[in-house]
Amino acid sequence: MASCYWKCPPENTRSLTMCGHVGFESLPDQLVDRSIQQGFCFNILCVGETGIGKSTLINTLFNTNFEEHESSHFCPNVRLRAQTYELQESNVRLKLTIVNTVGFGDQINKEESYQPIVDYIDAQFEAYLQEELKIKRSLFNYHDSRVHVCLYFIAPTGHSLRTLDLLTMKSLDSKVNIIPLIAKADTISKSELQKFKMKLMSELVSNGVHIYQFPTDDDSTAKINTAMNGHLPFAVVGSMDEVKVGNKMVKARQYPWGIVEVENENHCDFVKLREMLICTNMEDLREQTHIRHYELYRRCKLEEMGFTDMGPENKPLSLQETYEAKRQEFYGERQRKEEEMKQMFVQRVKEKEAILKEAERELQAKFEHLKRVHQEERMKLEEKRRVLEEETIAFSKKKASYDLFQNQSFLASGSSIKKDKDRKNMHFDRELWT
Ligand code: GTP
Ligand code: MG
Repeated sequence: MASCYWKCPPENTRSLTMCGHVGFESLPDQLVDRSIQQGFCFNILCVGETGIGKSTLINTLFNTNFEEHESSHFCPNVRLRAQTYELQESNVRLKLTIVNTVGFGDQINKEESYQPIVDYIDAQFEAYLQEELKIKRSLFNYHDSRVHVCLYFIAPTGHSLRTLDLLTMKSLDSKVNIIPLIAKADTISKSELQKFKMKLMSELVSNGVHIYQFPTDDDSTAKINTAMNGHLPFAVVGSMDEVKVGNKMVKARQYPWGIVEVENENHCDFVKLREMLICTNMEDLREQTHIRHYELYRRCKLEEMGFTDMGPENKPLSLQETYEAKRQEFYGERQRKEEEMKQMFVQRVKEKEAILKEAERELQAKFEHLKRVHQEERMKLEEKRRVLEEETIAFSKKKASYDLFQNQSFLASGSSIKKDKDRKNMHFDRELWT
């Protein structure tokens, strides 16, 4: 940042020669002291399939056994596992976070394998942004978990890049500094390795994947960084095992046919990686994360939230003005929604009313119909009752005259029977006497 200022100072700035020493030349030392006191933090994301050598390489890079457990090949989806360690070299303290992809590339359907990685990186940016937007910020002692570098482990197939690797790198390249690595480079021959490297680079370029380029704008590192950019992707070998070569112990992988020395530049690019990642460009990786990747995330997020630097007619807009505009927009939108809901409510009440009225009309019609049917039934019954009554009266009359007739005929028949009886008795008496 400071170098930019000195390369193109503002036009109204005058350059003066001082008459004597005042002491601000110690500013860089003050900065160094402050940084040493504060300590540093560096976050590495290792992306690569299970068992490709991620943990071994990290152990070898930091010359430490981080005690990582092996991952299973049967994870149903990709997970990210972050672990933070405190390391110290001389008086410099480093808070190192290693994030590992667990189960990457193990699923049958690999379509969404990169999504959890993208989500993890975004979540760290989001956490930082939220801290920045707080009224009471504590960025000074905030544990920055943003990913500074992604070591992308490519299998040493000698063929082309897998679609999963291309898709993953493509979806990460605007969010993180990617350093591609050819893992287990001791399993591929030297000539095949050269061809493989060239093929990988041309595939990355033709697919528009942006990998991290070691910076060449600082004179002190420009030469080495330019040379190292030409060696990407680094072909690495990892091992914590020490083997005796000559009269000294070296980190190596021992085979029946010979030894692969990790730190021998004729055997692999491990030293180049360590030099570039830790010794030369760690600070640039941290800076690039902040000024490029985080800045992009922050811009998109704030724009999404409706913040903008320029108002209508390209006039600069202050935060207050943006806030006011946003508030007006929000109230307008709320009023519009309220009106819409009111209209909808009235409409629905009307519809309900019409339905109820229709139901009432139907009920009334049904009632009228039933009343009519009932009336008719009653009239029919009345008629039947009347006919029945008439029939009853007629029957009663008939019965009365019949009873009368019966009585008379009974009386009449009673006297003729007596006469017959008397006659029979006289006839009987006469027979007795004779
Ligand atoms: P997970 O965390 O379980 O996904 O595995 P990882 O990617 O961390 O792999 P790890 O470092 O545990 O190594 C897996 C196996 O590969 C071990 O047997 C290592 O010894 C071996 N290995 C690691 N690095 C290399 C290497 O550079 N070359 C060869 N040939 N083997 C290696
Ligand atoms: Mg591991």
